[in-house]
Amino acid sequence: MTGANSCPACAAAGEDEEDADSNSVASSYHLKRLFYFAFNLRRNVMHLQTRTIHTGVDKDTAYNSIMTPIYQTSTFRFADIGVTRGYDYTRTSNPTRKALEENIASLEGGAGAIAVATGMAAITTVLHLFRPGDHIICTHDCYGGTDRILRLYQDQFNVQVSYVNLQNPENLETSFRPNTKAMWIETPSNPLLNILDISKLSKAAHARGVLSIVDNTFLSPANQRPFELDADIIVHSTTKYLNGHSDVVGGAVVAKEHSILERLQFLCNALGQGASPFDCWLVLRGIKTLVPRMKLHEENANRVAQFLAGHPAAKRVYYPGLKTHPYHDIALRQQHGFGGMVSFEVAGALPEVNHVLRSVKIFALAESLGGVESLIDHPVSMTHASMNPKLRQEAGITENLIRLSVGLESIEDILDDLNHALDTIAK
Ligand SMILES: Cc1ncc(COP(=O)(O)O)c(C=O)c1O
Repeated sequence: MTGANSCPACAAAGEDEEDADSNSVASSYHLKRLFYFAFNLRRNVMHLQTRTIHTGVDKDTAYNSIMTPIYQTSTFRFADIGVTRGYDYTRTSNPTRKALEENIASLEGGAGAIAVATGMAAITTVLHLFRPGDHIICTHDCYGGTDRILRLYQDQFNVQVSYVNLQNPENLETSFRPNTKAMWIETPSNPLLNILDISKLSKAAHARGVLSIVDNTFLSPANQRPFELDADIIVHSTTKYLNGHSDVVGGAVVAKEHSILERLQFLCNALGQGASPFDCWLVLRGIKTLVPRMKLHEENANRVAQFLAGHPAAKRVYYPGLKTHPYHDIALRQQHGFGGMVSFEVAGALPEVNHVLRSVKIFALAESLGGVESLIDHPVSMTHASMNPKLRQEAGITENLIRLSVGLESIEDILDDLNHALDTIAK
């Protein structure tokens, strides 16, 4: 039956409903759904740490499994002509993916989310909200991949992009054009960990009818919730802290409003961006430990930043948790934690930088971030190699800059590793 939906759980999920009266199996199915629906409503007001573990995960109405099943199927049997149990084809939607979407949307406090194949898929899907001739203002030290796709949109689709230093919010005012449709920010920025005032910038954007889009990858909702600071869309590479174990690539977009969510869901299906059920399951599992992981990442990163700040071979240290960080006060105000990323400039040139990169043993020389293991990155030759060199220079990403993703190993071993690599330079 596809007519009026008397089951509130099915109605809320936008799903068709079978005729419960004529089918006792369907009837018990709806009873269970109703129970989980009510439970999930309660969960949405629970503390974030509880929601990381519980929200959206009850998809097994057949056996009540505690863990969300991996619905590894491309298609779903129709119950009758025109009647489904809410799913017909996995590109469009899948129960495991939906569990992850509900979970992330709840953590960010949005109307809903889409879970996609990579962080870049998340960014690409958002960019499809815009049309040729639209203008986007982007923070000047955005992630290299964001810069690359924006340039592609500029060249091929006539989307106009201005890269602006938004540390000074007045620069935003002078960058607006009549056709400006979005402001794209990333805070803390990659790799310099500059902090942007999300609330101030979003309010200025809204005054001009411009959307505020925030890449929240570096902090995750455990440490920063941009919707509380007036953002409209949140982008994630779930590859990083949300999953947290460096064993999957994924992305998500969260919308504050239903109207934007519906457009994103349409685009996700039309562009074929959706994440696979298995990857969604991995990310869901990773998220369950997000809060304690983020606490320990921060604890270790703070110790690393303090250590580097006192070491003669480290020239400049970038960590928002340091009182000397130029935007420490904004970080304190808008974040719920300082995160696990630390960048620093080596006192010396490329040979000294290479020495550090080759000497560390616990830190693996690798791109990416946010996993339980410590990683070391040389932005100029690795993550930011594709960035326009002039823009890179202007942003302050120098040849002697190193970025650390501080993991969850014992802090004594982490500090020993860095000490060994840096001491030889200092000597
Ligand atoms: C801030 C930020 N956003 C987006 C991305 C892209 O994510 P993915 O590699 O999952 O496509 C990255 C990747 O490093 C990133 O650091």
